[in-house]
Amino acid sequence: MTEKGSLQEKLKNLEQLALAEVRSAGGEEAIQKIRTHYLGRKGLLTSILREMGGLSPEERPQIGQLANQIKASLEQAVEQFQEEKRSGKKNERLFQDRVDFTLPGRDFTLGSKHLITQTTDNIAAIFGRLGFEVSEGPEVELDYYNFEALNFPKDHPARDMQDTFYFTPNVVLRTHTSPVQVRTMESRKPPLRVIAPGRVYRHDSDPTHSPMFHQVEGFIVDRAVTFADLKGTLTYFVHELFGREVQMRFRPSFFPFTEPSAEVDIQCVMCKGAGCNLCKKSGWLEILGSGMIDPEVFRFVGYDPEEYTGFAFGLGVERIAMLQVGLSDIRIFFENNWQFLSQF
Ligand code: FA5
Repeated sequence: MTEKGSLQEKLKNLEQLALAEVRSAGGEEAIQKIRTHYLGRKGLLTSILREMGGLSPEERPQIGQLANQIKASLEQAVEQFQEEKRSGKKNERLFQDRVDFTLPGRDFTLGSKHLITQTTDNIAAIFGRLGFEVSEGPEVELDYYNFEALNFPKDHPARDMQDTFYFTPNVVLRTHTSPVQVRTMESRKPPLRVIAPGRVYRHDSDPTHSPMFHQVEGFIVDRAVTFADLKGTLTYFVHELFGREVQMRFRPSFFPFTEPSAEVDIQCVMCKGAGCNLCKKSGWLEILGSGMIDPEVFRFVGYDPEEYTGFAFGLGVERIAMLQVGLSDIRIFFENNWQFLSQF
């Protein structure tokens, strides 16, 4: 490119840049800065024109003329900007160009707690009113806490690979929240009044069983805790959750870490005890397992079973939520189905 051509190009670029800056300037102060930057005595236009030394005498006036035109057009743009600003047109034009007030506002959807979280919160609130505190334990658990210290014999079927997810022979995904009992008792002294909500895992999958589900464990250890305290506590809980009119019963059962043990059933929420498919014609639905803490467990944690007694219970949160809202398939909780979840 000739020297003249290169100067012409530089001047045109300068004009484009300067006009763009003037158009988007925010106010009077900004516009004065732009003006000085491009047209001032030490500005860009002057420094480009200093390069005219290498041009022939015929070429110089041509470049000079172009520089004058550019200067005039920039001055005019600055003046127009100031005039519009003065008359308020600038704002008008900006709004016309950029803001369409007729568009509807941006919509945003509000999330909500998952039904399982809501149910867990509800359960925790009921026990909170009875003075229970909340504690938590690890989901990846030692076989010792999940089974051994809870008095599961080595050959107990619950330890079978069929039911439990093993990492190593000594490390499992906890199959219930009961290990939190042992961990809490090991690190603290009675009196204890604790609930422990959390996720648990079993090799189990059908419409009412999920490989991952939630339990809430609860236990009390103190002097002279009796089965009557267990019954009173769980009766209060069931009445708070399902209403005072709901019938309940304690059915003898077995857990290695409680003695005696009882399962709690409530009258079927669907058929009100008449017998239907949900309750397998029995009229009752099991909601939790419970019992007096076995003295063997106290020996594992170093409590004196002659001095302390206690009760414990464990309930399935999904089971409770299903009964409360009338669901027959547990899998819907974990499908991330927005239409299902947003109902609660
Ligand atoms: C237990 O897990 C005992 N740890 C409960 C307990 C605690 C007894 C303290 C005594 C003292 P069970 O295996 O029955 O017990 O499970 C308790 C509840 O978890 C059941 O009533 C059921 O509601 C729920 N549950 C069990 N397996 C599944 C599963 N695969 N999917 C969903 N819920 C389940």
